[in-house]
Amino acid sequence: MGWPRGRGDRLILWLICAVFAPALLAFAAPQAVDSEGHQWWQHAVFYEIYPRSYADTNEDGIGDLNGITSKLDYLEQLGVDAIWISPCFPSPQVDFGYDVSDYENIDPMYGTLADFDRLAAEAKKRNIRIILDFVINHTSDRHPWFIDSRSSREAAHRNWYIYRDGKGPGQPPNNWQSTFGHSAWQFDPKTDQYYYHYFYMQQPDLNWRNAQVKSAMFDVSRWWYKRGVAGFRLDAVDTLFEDPALRDNPILPGTNKYGDPNMEDKYNKKLPEVHQVLRGLRQVADEYQAVLIGEAYTENIDELRQYYGTHNNELQMPMDFMFMKVDKLSAPEFRKQIAAVDTAGGWPVYVLGNHDNPRSYVRYGDGQHDEAIAKLMAALYLTLRGTPIMYYGEEIGMTNNDPQRKEDVKDPIGITGWPQEKGRDGERTPMQWSSTINAGFSRARPWLPVPDSYKTHNVATELAQNDSVLQFYRKILALRHQNPALLDGEYIPLKQDDPSILSYLRKYKDQTVLVVLNMSSEPHKSSFDLRPQGLPSAKAKTLVTANGAEAGPDLSHLSLEAFAIYIAEILPGEVQ
Ligand code: NOJ
Repeated sequence: MGWPRGRGDRLILWLICAVFAPALLAFAAPQAVDSEGHQWWQHAVFYEIYPRSYADTNEDGIGDLNGITSKLDYLEQLGVDAIWISPCFPSPQVDFGYDVSDYENIDPMYGTLADFDRLAAEAKKRNIRIILDFVINHTSDRHPWFIDSRSSREAAHRNWYIYRDGKGPGQPPNNWQSTFGHSAWQFDPKTDQYYYHYFYMQQPDLNWRNAQVKSAMFDVSRWWYKRGVAGFRLDAVDTLFEDPALRDNPILPGTNKYGDPNMEDKYNKKLPEVHQVLRGLRQVADEYQAVLIGEAYTENIDELRQYYGTHNNELQMPMDFMFMKVDKLSAPEFRKQIAAVDTAGGWPVYVLGNHDNPRSYVRYGDGQHDEAIAKLMAALYLTLRGTPIMYYGEEIGMTNNDPQRKEDVKDPIGITGWPQEKGRDGERTPMQWSSTINAGFSRARPWLPVPDSYKTHNVATELAQNDSVLQFYRKILALRHQNPALLDGEYIPLKQDDPSILSYLRKYKDQTVLVVLNMSSEPHKSSFDLRPQGLPSAKAKTLVTANGAEAGPDLSHLSLEAFAIYIAEILPGEVQ
């Protein structure tokens, strides 16, 4: 049988395609929206990978894209649906990739575009989406745009950056400071002007008031969407704009860890113009059903709310760092923060740690119950209403490994700020895969040292233990993926005056899950009467427990050891 040739035949072929093509496409790609309107990213678990430190296949002591590809089976089995890869673009690596010199390529240290395509294809086979890190506030000083901009005052790209005259000889245009220490202005002798950099001097700020910058950066995002990327984590969104009048920032009492006067970043941070850019980036993302995650450090819930956009037309997923900043195991503090973000009007995004903050294992651990606490924190952020973003290594209880001597520091802020600021090396150490040499990360000497704890805290060892942190993560993630109440249910706080026990229901249609977390090192007895929640004579079916939790079937006697975790499905009783 040949291809249809006549008009009638062509019509039949067209009809067949029209009917079956969507079904075939649906089979090929995971659905972006389910039948009840939930977006893919609302049901997904995200996982941040710091590519330098994940897995090294070419034996240079630095991770690479092929290394990530080689670990996709592990990620799939763990229950990860999307990986956010910190910047892997060509870069002089002053800020380990956050200084991009070419937005549309891969740094040779990480591989090639072909390696990226293979990673994307392999990830797709496992229904894992790829999120890239989009550094939009600044480029590297080695980016061709910046190299051109500094060549003369008339250069085509001069106005792509922020150049100004000094106030006088040797005096920068104003008092603004870089968040990485000292003046935010760098004198450029060739053109006798200063350029502005909120981060390192090798990271000049782009001028987002220039329409050409906007259009070039929007095009970068399109370029990657077309290559199969499912979204971006937007770096440092609050620093995109500066006061055009360059007013001095107010000085505050005291000095910071770099010895500079404390300052309120009133005129160079969180300017309202940021939101126009986010709306624009969102319009482009919507063309590709992509998701935008925001690195948005906010002071309060109103600021966070603004990042969703007044019509939910900015970031779908601004990260709630206020949750991460609840730095002690305090049931009342977490209760307050969860309630605030849960009612902010957007979809909550929970994070315990990332490559800029000490690992959650040490922030919450008390040195005595660290394993139990690591599980407790997992049980918390993986059972809340919202999307969790894990940080690589959290699932095995990786600890921070801060440098002990200034000469060992790699992160430049750790050198400028030593000893008050030791830099971020400690939270960026190689992923611990096994108890073999260099934790199985590389056969070469890793770029950062592996802490001794790798001998016990590594994937291979923990997979072989029933009660490891890793097995707990796998259990909770598996539960979360198949439980509608945990995926979509509303968050209903319980016992709001309890100083030690954080408890809540997740309720979706007729399905209810109860989560009880003992956030203290003391044992507690508890009981739950769920009649006010419309669940008379409720019976509980245990789903997951850890750290010593026991319950009678009717929730009238719950006994919780230190840091106990009790998660149960509530089976509704007869209405009385
Ligand atoms: C935030 C990133 O997370 C951090 O690692 C980086 O140094 C700054 N933005 C500058 O890009």
